Amino acid sequence: MGGEATGLDLLFRRRSISRLTEPAPSEEELRTILKAAAAAPDHGELRPWRFVVLRGPAKDAFGEVLARAYLRRVEAAGGQPVPSKLEKDRTKLRRAPVVVVVGAVHRDDPRIPWDDQVGAAYAAAQNALLAATALGYGSMWRTGDIVSDPYVKRALGLSENDGIAGFLYFGTPHDNAWKPPRDPDLTGLVEEWQPPAPTP
Ligand SMILES: Cc1cc2nc3c(=O)[nH]c(=O)nc-3n(C[C@H](O)[C@H](O)[C@H](O)COP(=O)(O)O)c2cc1C
Repeated sequence: MGGEATGLDLLFRRRSISRLTEPAPSEEELRTILKAAAAAPDHGELRPWRFVVLRGPAKDAFGEVLARAYLRRVEAAGGQPVPSKLEKDRTKLRRAPVVVVVGAVHRDDPRIPWDDQVGAAYAAAQNALLAATALGYGSMWRTGDIVSDPYVKRALGLSENDGIAGFLYFGTPHDNAWKPPRDPDLTGLVEEWQPPAPTP
C-alpha cells in the first residue's frame, strides 16, 4: 500500500496507523494538507480553524506541556499521578514525525451554532487525513483528555471557549506496514424512509 491514492479509492485506503516514521510530508505537501483542511465545509464561512504544527524539537517541548497538563488534572482531582501515564503523555507525540493540532476557534456569530463550528473543525481534520492519504502518507486522528484541557488549549494559543478537534499524526508506517483498505458493511446502517401509511 502507500503510494498516491486517487478518487474514491483514497476514502477506503485511509486507515489509522498508530506508529509513523519518516518520510513525513514535505513542507509543500504539508501546505497542501492544510489547504485541504481549510477547504472543508464551513457553515457561515467563519473559518473557525487554527492549525498548529508540532515537529522537530518542538514536539518534545510540547510533550512536556502534555505531561504538566496531566499532573495538573491529577492534582485538581486530588489523585496521585501514575508514572506510566505521565511518561505516555510526555512521549506520545513521538509516535509520528509531524503532528497537527486542529483547533476549533469559537466565532461569535449568533447565526451559526457552536456545534456547526465544531463540525467544520472535524470536517477540516478529515480533509487533512484524506489529503495525506492522497499524497501517500499514513495518518492517525487522536483525541483523549488532552483535547478538553484548558492548560493544553492555552499552550496552543487557544482560549477556554475554543475546542480541539484532534491531534493528527502524519508520516509513513514503520516497515511500510500499511493496513488493508476498508470495505465497510452497511448492514443495519441504512434505511429508506417512507411516509407512514395514512390512517383510515
Ligand atoms: C474524533 C476522533 C477521535 C479519535 N481519537 C482516537 C484516539 O484518541 N485514540 C485512538 O486510538 N484512535 C482514535 N481515533 C481513531 C479511531 O480509533 C479509528 O478511526 C477507528 O478505529 C477506525 O479505524 P480506521 O481509522 O483505520 O478506519 C479517533 C477517531 C476520531 C474520528
